[in-house]
Amino acid sequence: MRRTSSGIPEFDERIGGGYLPGRVLLITGDTGTGKTTFSIHFLHQACVEGKKCVLVATEELPEDILELSEMMGIGLTKYYESGQLAIEKAFQSRSEKVQTSKFGFTPEGLEIDLPSLSEYVPDGTGAVVVDNIGVFTLRLSLQDFRDQFDALTFLLSTKAGCTSMFIMDDTALKTNNNLAEYSVSSCLRLMVDENPYTGNIERYIKIPKMRRTYISLNPIRFEITLSGIKLL
Ligand SMILES: Nc1ncnc2c1ncn2[C@@H]1O[C@H](COP(=O)(O)OP(=O)(O)O)[C@@H](O)[C@H]1O
Ligand SMILES: [Mg+2]
Repeated sequence: MRRTSSGIPEFDERIGGGYLPGRVLLITGDTGTGKTTFSIHFLHQACVEGKKCVLVATEELPEDILELSEMMGIGLTKYYESGQLAIEKAFQSRSEKVQTSKFGFTPEGLEIDLPSLSEYVPDGTGAVVVDNIGVFTLRLSLQDFRDQFDALTFLLSTKAGCTSMFIMDDTALKTNNNLAEYSVSSCLRLMVDENPYTGNIERYIKIPKMRRTYISLNPIRFEITLSGIKLL
């Protein structure tokens, strides 16, 4: 089985060659832990390999994501301009719709059911990122969350050749009692923590689960540099 590259060669080596192809990977973490940066590496690599890519962006403007990618030398702009990479502004279009209602902005604007996100993914897509899927889940009951999340995961898994990455903030993960981690084939937890020996604040990746893969349970230290993610 050929794995799907994370776009970070040293990380691929630690996870048996890359992510599980055709499956959903979940990345969780607090704000600023590097989730979006991981997704940029993944999308850039998929674009380089000639795959059609979709990014469903709920928090950042396309121009900000493109600028960050260019800063790190893993530029997505040319793929966006050629149409190979589509960026769907799910939250923006949704909030615009609600803003124009006579009631002004209301949180109901975020009530989009998860399975319908698969409509953003045309057949023939090779890589999908939803950043941040937590935006759509905060108001769901646990049962609805599980049903909808599993349905979306299933719908994407049936799309031939399509590997997916869901990014979820820690608040949303906790709100659904970590259920999201049970539903996917692999999950990464990104964190920033104090090294008890040195007192330095450091970045870590933990991999609670990656099916069909030998992984070390020790956290992997990394840095975010001007050329992207570097493992230590
Ligand atoms: N060029 C850079 N050099 C060093 N660190 C950077 C650079 N760009 C971003 N970062 C760091 O990455 C963090 C944000 O990473 P990001 O992937 O956006 O996190 P998340 O999506 O988890 O909120 C920033 O807070 C900053 O500390
Ligand atoms: Mg982010």
